Amino acid sequence: MLLEAPVYKEIFGAVKIYELQKVIKMDTETEDVPMFTVQNIPREDIYRTIGEMAIIVPMKNEKLHLVDGVLKAIPHKSPIIIVSNSKREGPNRYRQEVDLVKHFCNLTHSKVIMIHQRDPGLAEAFRETGYEDILDENGLVRSGKGEGMLIGIMLARAIGAKYVGFIDADNYIPGAVNEYVKDYAAGFLMSESEYAMVRLHWRHKPKVSRGTLYFRKWGRVSEITNRYLNQLISEKTTFETTIMATGNAGEHAMTMKLAEIMPFSTGYSIEPYEIVYLLERFGSWENVEEFQDVFDQGIEIFQIETLNPHFHEDKGQEHVKEMVLLSLPTIYHSKLASERLKRQILEDLRMHGIITETEEPPKPRIMRPIKDIDPKKWMNVLESNQETLLRFDL
Ligand code: GDP
Ligand code: CO
Repeated sequence: MLLEAPVYKEIFGAVKIYELQKVIKMDTETEDVPMFTVQNIPREDIYRTIGEMAIIVPMKNEKLHLVDGVLKAIPHKSPIIIVSNSKREGPNRYRQEVDLVKHFCNLTHSKVIMIHQRDPGLAEAFRETGYEDILDENGLVRSGKGEGMLIGIMLARAIGAKYVGFIDADNYIPGAVNEYVKDYAAGFLMSESEYAMVRLHWRHKPKVSRGTLYFRKWGRVSEITNRYLNQLISEKTTFETTIMATGNAGEHAMTMKLAEIMPFSTGYSIEPYEIVYLLERFGSWENVEEFQDVFDQGIEIFQIETLNPHFHEDKGQEHVKEMVLLSLPTIYHSKLASERLKRQILEDLRMHGIITETEEPPKPRIMRPIKDIDPKKWMNVLESNQETLLRFDL
């Protein structure tokens, strides 16, 4: 793959955020590229890395047709981890997903693990390993996308994956999914640190409007989140920046070493909180001893602009409101946010009717890092208590 080289970056303490890098050519072999502004990442290296990367697909009541396309597009060497929170009553959508996955695995012999988020065995595994952060008042794993992703990371850890990549189940373009996995691998191959993250950005997010495709430059929520994340960074450095372009990137990936030390926020606030946390904890040289290795190696955040457009299910205005309501409070409640920034976020949320004049933005609920959960014990408890765990070729 040819990519714009990671030349421009901003550095905050141990965190390096690279500017958006465009994909210039999808598929190349080993060859010298005599230009320092272009980086070649040979296909062989990408495929080797793909084999070490678990792809986590969180899903909740998505169209089966889309799920099918996503599964078929993930490169064969990547183990797939499906964490579903789909309905099991009325029409049993989870059962339909299971049938689809079974059929897919019979045809392709793909490596797949699948589980339902509300499986009591999962709750038991977390409880027994002292991790109640993810449980609700009924003692089951809470609903929410962030929670589903965390389960996926635990399963990836149990099968020894070196990297985890996330891909939403509601993607209309299988070719885009195939590219995302390769873009993640390319990012890791550029990294000099074992603590690395790759976040994807699309040049276009097409929406159907008046019967024709309109290629939007920005998604609505990401525009707002990025603006405030950049403001948070600018206040810290006193230099204005537009570096952060992927605040809400659901399509992103990280090394397992990084995933293990990250606290995660719940639901849809998980992605922006990742950036807020990394800046809070590693953005300055404080309490270095606790994370000596991380400070020594540094954290690298790559942002890659995909060749393919991003075309996913339009879930309507209410969903957009929910995303904003969950994203902006991660910035509002950050210890890095100035009074001025907080006031702006507050005004914005109130003006758009997302909270009322008297309400405060809800405090994000943060789940501790998973590094202290014993993965062997967790998996053993899960296996002896599970009701929905399926494994194919793994
Ligand atoms: P957006 O694309 O960020 O606007 O949000 P989506 O609603 O498309 O959600 C992203 C992905 O997370 C999709 O694949 C959803 O099906 C999935 N998802 C949403 N809520 C949950 C949940 O509670 N649990 C799990 N496991 N997945 C979820
Ligand atoms: Co979506």
